[in-house]
Amino acid sequence: MATRRWFLGLALIFCVCLIPALSVDKTNFKTCEQSSFCRRQRSLEPGPSQYRALLGSAKLTADKFEIQLINDKTKVPLLLEVFGLHGNMTRIKINELKPLKPRYEVIDVLVGTPASENLQVTGQDDNTLELSLGDGGQKLLVTGSPFRLDVLSDQELVLSVNSRGLLYFEHLRARKDTLSAKVSSAVGNMWHKVKNLFSSDSEKTNTASENDNQSAGEEPETVNEEETKKEEDEAGMWEETFKTHTDSKPSGPSSVGLDFSLPGFEHVYGIPEHADNLRLRTTESTDPYRLYNLDVFQYELYNTMALYGAVPLLLAHNIHRTLGIFWLNAAETWVDISSNTAGKTLFGKMLQYMQGGGETPQTDVRWMSESGIIDFFLLLGPSPTAVFKQYASLTGTQALPPYFSIGYHQCRWNYNDEDDVRNVDASFDEHDIPYDVIWLDIEHADGKRYFTWDPHKFPTPKNMLTGLKEKRRKMVAIVDPHIKIDSAYRIHSEIRSRNYYVKTKDGSDYEGWCWPGSAAYPDFTNPEMRAWWSSMFSYDQYEGSMDNLFVWNDMNEPSVFNGPEVTMHKDAVHWGGWEHRDIHNMYGLYVHQATAEGLIHRSGGKERPFVLTRAFFAGSQRYGAVWTGDNAADWEHLKISIPMCLSLALAGISFCGADVGGFFKNPETELLVRWYQAGAYQPFFRAHAHLDTPRREPWLHGQTNTDIIREAIQQRYALLPFWYTLFYNAHRDAEPVMRPLWVEFPEDMSTFAIDDQYMLGSALLVHPVTEANAREVHIYLPGIGEVWYDVHTYQKYKAPQKLYQPVTSSTIPVYQRGGSIIPRKDRPRRSSDCMQSDPFTLYVALDLQGEAQGQLYLDDGHSFNYQQNEFVYRKFNYSHGQLTSSSLDPQGTFETSEWLERVIIIGSSKPNSITLHQPDGSETQLEFEYNSQTSVLTVRKPGVNIASDFTMSLR
Ligand code: NOJ
Repeated sequence: MATRRWFLGLALIFCVCLIPALSVDKTNFKTCEQSSFCRRQRSLEPGPSQYRALLGSAKLTADKFEIQLINDKTKVPLLLEVFGLHGNMTRIKINELKPLKPRYEVIDVLVGTPASENLQVTGQDDNTLELSLGDGGQKLLVTGSPFRLDVLSDQELVLSVNSRGLLYFEHLRARKDTLSAKVSSAVGNMWHKVKNLFSSDSEKTNTASENDNQSAGEEPETVNEEETKKEEDEAGMWEETFKTHTDSKPSGPSSVGLDFSLPGFEHVYGIPEHADNLRLRTTESTDPYRLYNLDVFQYELYNTMALYGAVPLLLAHNIHRTLGIFWLNAAETWVDISSNTAGKTLFGKMLQYMQGGGETPQTDVRWMSESGIIDFFLLLGPSPTAVFKQYASLTGTQALPPYFSIGYHQCRWNYNDEDDVRNVDASFDEHDIPYDVIWLDIEHADGKRYFTWDPHKFPTPKNMLTGLKEKRRKMVAIVDPHIKIDSAYRIHSEIRSRNYYVKTKDGSDYEGWCWPGSAAYPDFTNPEMRAWWSSMFSYDQYEGSMDNLFVWNDMNEPSVFNGPEVTMHKDAVHWGGWEHRDIHNMYGLYVHQATAEGLIHRSGGKERPFVLTRAFFAGSQRYGAVWTGDNAADWEHLKISIPMCLSLALAGISFCGADVGGFFKNPETELLVRWYQAGAYQPFFRAHAHLDTPRREPWLHGQTNTDIIREAIQQRYALLPFWYTLFYNAHRDAEPVMRPLWVEFPEDMSTFAIDDQYMLGSALLVHPVTEANAREVHIYLPGIGEVWYDVHTYQKYKAPQKLYQPVTSSTIPVYQRGGSIIPRKDRPRRSSDCMQSDPFTLYVALDLQGEAQGQLYLDDGHSFNYQQNEFVYRKFNYSHGQLTSSSLDPQGTFETSEWLERVIIIGSSKPNSITLHQPDGSETQLEFEYNSQTSVLTVRKPGVNIASDFTMSLR
C-alpha cells in the first residue's frame, strides 16, 4: 500500500515538474459559484438590509461604542463594536452576540493595539445616532433601520458601510438532524475535545469572545428556527465537495460579508496577490478577486484568481483623498468590486459631467469571508503616505534587509553539486559580473529532508560556504514547511513526538503529498512549534550551516499536491482547535516568521535575517522578502511583474521581485536581457529557472548580451546606497520603496492607471522595456512645473509630457527627478560587501528653481546595532548655489571611513570657483569640469567623510 502511494506521489511530482508549460488548469481551483459561501453571499443582491441596529442597545464605554444588530428574518443578534483609533483610523468588529462557540479572531498580525481616541455620542434622532471621533473632525452616523454606517470627515461623506444592504453573517448553528437545545452543549463538548488534541498550553488560545459577548445589553429576540432550517437546505452548508475532496464542515455555515461604498472614488488598488493590473477592475461580469493562498501551477495573467499570498488591504484614491480598508480575516475571502462609471468612456463621463446629468462616480466593494468575524479598519488617510503609515501602525513596517540582500541573487532549480556552485561562482568573476548570493533549491537536501545536505552532491557544505565567504558572498538554501514522513529523519520524529503536526479532523497527524512524497505539516500557528522550528536554525542543529547561509521558504500556502485546490483540507485542525479554514491565509506568514526568528536566534539576536517567502499575509513585511512565484518566460509575465510588485508595495510589502528570466519555459535572449534590465530596478533582484530549462547564467548568451546584462547589474550595484536608503525609509516611515506614480503625483489623474512605469522613492522614474523588438517606449513624465533628466545622457525634459523615447537593446529608461539628490557608488566590484568602504558620488539633479534634496542612510549593513543608534542618516540640500550635508538624525553614532569622491550637478550652470567649507573652519578650492552641452558640472574629490557636515559653495 505504502509503495503504491509512493508511485502515485512520484507520478504527481512528475506531472507537476515535467509537463510542458501550457496554462493553468482552472478546473483545479474553485470559482465563486463552486465555493458555496461565495455563491450564497453573491445571491444576496443589493437592496434594503435585513439588519436593524437596535439604537436602544447602544453603549459607550471608555474605549468603544457598541450596539446590537438584529437580522429581521432569523432574529439572530449580532454585536457591533466601534473603536476610534489614534491617527485617523476606526476599527469596527461585528460578531454574534452569543455564538454557539467562539468564532476565530485573527491574532499575531497586529503589532499592537493601536491607542484609542476619544469617542462621543454627539447626536441622535429616531433612526440615527451620531458618533464623533477624536477632535470631532470625523463622524460616524449609525442608522437604525435599515442598518448602515456613514463615515464623514470634515462634513464630507467619505464612505458608507452596508448602504447596499449586503451585510451577511451566517450564525453558528446546530446540525439539522440535531437541532435542539442539547446540541449547543454537544457542539461545546466537541469544541473542547478538539482543543484537547493539543498540549495544555492550548488553554491560552484566542478565546476572548467566549466570555466577552455574553454581557451585552438587550435580550435578543428568539431565533427563528424556520428561517434557519430553510437556509440549511442549501447545498454546501454542512458539507461541500470539490472534485474528489469533501469538506466535512464541522461547524456548518459561518461566512461573513459586508459592503462598502466609496463615493467620489473611481480608482481602487491593493488586495494582492493577483496577476492583474495595478488598478483593480470591476468584477460584475467575472469572479470576484479571490484571496486564498494557493500554489497555482502556471498561473494565468489578467484575472482575479487567487495566488500564493493574500493581503486583505484595499486602497482607494482620488485627487482629494486616499483611504484604506483593512479587512482582518484570514479565511478564504472574495472581493467584489463594482462602479457606476464602469464601462463608460472618458469622453462619455466628461459629456455627462458637462451636461450636468452625471452622478458622483462611486466604487462599491464587497468583502466575503468563509469564517471568523467581521473585523475591519478604516484608514482615512487623507494622503497616500498617511494611509501607508496608518496601515504600518497596525501591521508593522518592512524589515530592514541586510545590505547584501538588495544585491543580485543567482538561483536555479538546481545548482547540482558543490563543483557546480564553485564554477558558477568563479564564472561571475571571470565575466566581471557582480553578484551576492547563490541559491540552492530542493535537490540540495538529502531526499528533500530540509535542514540536511545530499551526502553525494553536497558532502562538505561548510567548505563550500567558506569558499563563498572568502569571496564575501552568501548562499541561500531552501527550507520548505512540508516534512518527509520518515522515522529516521530527526526533524520529523521530533515534530511527531512533540505533537506539533497539524491534525486531521479525526485527530491523527495530517498527511499530504509534496516534494518528498508523503509529508506532514508542522503547525506553525502554535507558538511552541514556532520556537522549536526557530531553534533548528542554530548552527549546532542545522549541520553544515554557517553565518553566510540564509533561507528560502517555498510551498508555504501550504502546498499539498493531493489536497483540495492543491492545499490543506479546511477541516484540518490547528493549535487551539481552530480549523484550517480559519487560519489558512496566515500559515505562510507563520512559517516565514518562525524562520526569520530562527536566523536571528542563531546569531544570539545580533544579526538581521534574510528569508524569502512565497506565501504571505498582512504583516509578512516584518519578516523579509516575497517573490511572485512561478511565472513564465513570456513578455507578458515580464510586464505583469511591475503591477504585481506595486500592489504588494501598496499593501506594505516592499521587498518584492519576480523570477528574472521567467521560471517556466526558456526565454529568448532578448527577453532574458530585458528582464535583467527590469529586475535591476525592482526591489528583490533574483534570476531563477525551472529544473527542466537549459542553463541561462548571464554569460551564456554571447558577448554583447553578457555585456548588456553586466551593465544592468552594475547599474544596480552603483545604486545600492540609494536602494538601502529607500529600504530604511520603508522600515522607519512605511514609505514604499517601489511606488505607483500616483503616490508621488496624487493630483494627476493621468497617473492613476499607469502600471508600466513607477517610481523608486520620490527620485527615480523607471519605465523598463517590456516589449519584444522595441525601438521606442512611450513614457509619461508627470509633475506640473517639474523637470526630469535621463540618467544615462543627462538630457533634460520638462514635465508634464508624453515622451517617445528611442531605445536600443542596452537602454533602460530611467529618469532622475529634478529636485532630487541620489547617492551612488560608481566603482564596480565583485559583491556588495566588497564595495563597503568605497567612496560615494552624489548626483544632484536641479529643479527649475535650481534646488535639490536627498538623503543617505548607512550602517554596518548586517546587524541590529542600528537600533542602538549605530547609523548615519544624512540630508543633502542644494539651493542658491550651495550644497550642504547635515545630519537628519543626530542620534546616529556610526563611524565610517566612506568618503565623497565626486559630486555631479545636473542642470547646472558653470561656476567660477567651488569652495568646500568644513566644520573646523577650513576652506578648500575644489577642481571641477563643466560640460556645456549637457549642463553637467562634475566636482572632483571633495574628499570629505560622508558622515560629516560640509558646505560646498559655487560662485
Ligand atoms: C516552487 C517554487 O515556486 C520554485 O521557485 C521552486 O524552484 C520549486 N518550487 C522547487 O523548489
